[in-house]
Amino acid sequence: MVVPDRALDNAHSPNPHPPMSSLDAYAKSTLDDLTAKTLRRTLVATARGAGAGVERGGQTRVSFSCNDYLGLSHDPRVIAAGREALERYGAGAGASRLVTGNHPPLLALEARLAAHKGKDAALVFGSGYLANLGIVTALAGAGDLVLVDALGHSCLFAGAQLSGATSVRFRHNDLDHLRGLLTSRRARHGRVLILTERVFSMDGDRAPLPDLLALAAEYDAWTLVDDAHGLGVVEAGARAPLEMGTLSKTLGSYGGYVCASRPVVDLLTSRARSFVYTTGLPPASAAAALKALEIVEAEPDRAARPLALARRFTARLGLPEAQSPIVPILIGEAAAALALSAALEARGYLAVAIRPPTVPAGTARLRVACSAAHSEAQVDGLADAILAERG
Ligand SMILES: Cc1ncc(COP(=O)(O)O)c(C=O)c1O
Repeated sequence: MVVPDRALDNAHSPNPHPPMSSLDAYAKSTLDDLTAKTLRRTLVATARGAGAGVERGGQTRVSFSCNDYLGLSHDPRVIAAGREALERYGAGAGASRLVTGNHPPLLALEARLAAHKGKDAALVFGSGYLANLGIVTALAGAGDLVLVDALGHSCLFAGAQLSGATSVRFRHNDLDHLRGLLTSRRARHGRVLILTERVFSMDGDRAPLPDLLALAAEYDAWTLVDDAHGLGVVEAGARAPLEMGTLSKTLGSYGGYVCASRPVVDLLTSRARSFVYTTGLPPASAAAALKALEIVEAEPDRAARPLALARRFTARLGLPEAQSPIVPILIGEAAAALALSAALEARGYLAVAIRPPTVPAGTARLRVACSAAHSEAQVDGLADAILAERG
């Protein structure tokens, strides 16, 4: 007996209403749930030009939601450096760096980054997210302990989880809690990593680094400082043994890096999986970031401007003085944060709402990021719009 092939039958006379696959049903029910909680995310086409303006839906807004703190992504010198590398080396690296993707601009950038951080060496990754995954998984594994600041970036937690080490979060910037964890757990583990940020991405405050580094040294724990939001704008002071960051914010380009001692960088070159098994950064991105770093170092007045503007903003709103270019306007519920963001957009300002799980539940907020590209009038205008909306 010949059993009819249903799939073939269907191919000839397709059901106009095929049943939803279990995959699509899963996606749809999860999305419905996110929508009900005001936590669904959608993409909005946004065109950024030079300066602080962005265009959305045919409207221009003054953006306070970009991380291009010094406006360098559109600096003609940075663009020229990227273009030159693009024309010379092509659009893509062509292979992983350990094969044939190690183009000269990457090496020049690493040398400059290492010098900037006062370290022996640096290693450039495809992104900051990839850097954290690679660093943590190369340095910690089963039997080790990773302690992560509770407000650390998602990629710090992802690295800790992927490493297979025991991972524990410590209360944000709470060195007593960190000491307690080290005291009670250190002896049970081999290597111990502490992961924190110089400037916290969603709160704009800073880690107490000198004390944290001293505490880590007492327990022979290795500290990784994620400097994604500090480089070039708020980075004076103590250096950690592992200084990582991104090329995508102040440096206006794309990619990630770590600066450390020579043996550590050599080890990561061989063992960080998100470095070894992925294509090298496009040479133009490295060349653009290198030019941006040169500008950061050569123009300290520009580097000081975002923090000065953030302080002007907090003073006008009666908020505690900004510690970085990032100022959170805490709202609470996601729906209320979205509503305030929409009201500000109608007044000409883009301050995107940040909702859980990016921030803890009940702490949805607007994250305001000041840039050297903003004028004083724009900063005052946003502060006044917030005052007008919040009464
Ligand atoms: C604190 C922090 N670390 C790491 C990253 C990831 O960097 P990248 O965008 O280069 O992947 C970001 C932001 O994106 C960040 O805010």
